Amino acid sequence: MNIKVCRNYDEMSEKAARMICAVMTLKPDCTLGLATGSTPVGMYKRLIAMYESGELDFSRVRSYNLDEYYPIKPTDPQSYRYFMNVNLFDHVNIDRANTHVPNGEAADPDAECRAYDEEVSRAGIDIQVLGIGRNGHIGFNEPSDRLTAATHLTALSESTIEANSRFFASPEEVPHHALTMGLAPIMKSKRIIILVSGKDKHDALSALLSGVIDTSVPATVLNMHPDVTVICDEAAYNG
Ligand code: GLP
Repeated sequence: MNIKVCRNYDEMSEKAARMICAVMTLKPDCTLGLATGSTPVGMYKRLIAMYESGELDFSRVRSYNLDEYYPIKPTDPQSYRYFMNVNLFDHVNIDRANTHVPNGEAADPDAECRAYDEEVSRAGIDIQVLGIGRNGHIGFNEPSDRLTAATHLTALSESTIEANSRFFASPEEVPHHALTMGLAPIMKSKRIIILVSGKDKHDALSALLSGVIDTSVPATVLNMHPDVTVICDEAAYNG
């Protein structure tokens, strides 16, 4: 695992954007695996700036997002589809038809998850961006005795509902379920970058860097991937 410790959030965001830029430059028709949450917002801002300055071209890029609340409408401002539109897609020349977020309105969530896995597997993710939950979740793969390989419908843990309630008017409004890419499609990505910012992620980051695989910190499975770069700030690294 490569580790890049940055001075602060801005430097972390810049470094992450530079890595995406490198992949897109080498392979203009690449497939990006994208994440939501507050952590990658600064990276998306920089990607938009690189597009505006002519450094980046998204016209042939495809993207697959990690997860989506369930049930939720794509037009709901709390949905991850809405988040992606507002934080990236609305501002760059990506073809909206080439952007994919699990369908939070699917009548049959299991069929939706199977189809999503097949598509991701066909596309092949060139670089997967991950954040990390305070409890060590990636996507919405929550701590548990057993982790699920395939993309699946999952119940959110109390700590995730509480952590994500900051984006909602009240904790009662946070959906209790989500569709999430499982650990298998994440691990099949050619390259993974995981962004970790802030003191409250220190414990999860330490567990990740310990090299011990522990299902109670799902991110630790990344230790088995051959090309992971951890990009963190000093606050997360030092605690
Ligand atoms: C969310 C998302 C994750 C994200 C994590 C951390 O619940 N499902 O993909 O990495 O929580 O979010 P934040 O970056 O806001 O701390």
